[in-house]
Amino acid sequence: MNAPASQIAATESLLAFWRDAGVDACFEDAPVDRTFVPAPPEQKATLKAVASVSAPTDFSGAVAEARRLAAEAGDLDALRDAIAAFTGCPLREMGAKQAVFARGDPRAPVLVIGEGPGADEDAQGDPFVGRAGKLLDRMLDAAGLLDKVFITNTVFWRPPGNRTPTPQEQMVCAPFVERAFALLRPKAVLLLGAAAAKSVLKTDEGVMKMRGQWREWRLNEGDVSAPVLPTLHPAFLLRQPMAKRLAWADVLDLAAKLDAAD
Ligand code: URA
Repeated sequence: MNAPASQIAATESLLAFWRDAGVDACFEDAPVDRTFVPAPPEQKATLKAVASVSAPTDFSGAVAEARRLAAEAGDLDALRDAIAAFTGCPLREMGAKQAVFARGDPRAPVLVIGEGPGADEDAQGDPFVGRAGKLLDRMLDAAGLLDKVFITNTVFWRPPGNRTPTPQEQMVCAPFVERAFALLRPKAVLLLGAAAAKSVLKTDEGVMKMRGQWREWRLNEGDVSAPVLPTLHPAFLLRQPMAKRLAWADVLDLAAKLDAAD
């Protein structure tokens, strides 16, 4: 391609702008034609109908497969292998390098659940190893909880461009999250951010309303339940440092709950 130098410079500058804005992943199989002129309204309705037919909307098979694989996993190591072998989550095909399951003590009394892996986690294969993870570790350490946690996410593959995972992606991964909960049987669960709180507690309530309030997470099978505390996501705290005192109060509340349970 022999584009003029001015066009190449403009394209490079646009790409740099996108990269700095956090758009660091491409996941479409084919390039998108941005010069395409949209169809008039009456044709649009037809195109929309066609698009909705071709988009994957039925995840019931993937959920059933996740449930089967999760149920077969007899411990957390086997669950890690089952997740790595699972092909039903659409995020797998969107540029993720590897499955990211969990880190921490497999006998920990606290299960921490975040949203989904970011770029650092995708590169290293462990959850919460980037800037947000460092802040999380500092908070847990200061509260005496760092060696008492097992940390995972609602989805195990990096959503492209660090976007929030969709409810469908979370639904497909949920059997593995629930199995981790059932195998660990923690004394308490900490949910980091709105996406984790909504997915685990199956609610549309905002995290600002839920944070700091203890709820119960009870699985339908196996008599597994634990008190659950939603709090703010450490990535949010990096952007809004004023909110740290709220999350810190929640982490101290969690530490007090554990002390009371001992
Ligand atoms: N944010 C998350 O929610 N999870 C991670 O693992 C990292 C960042």
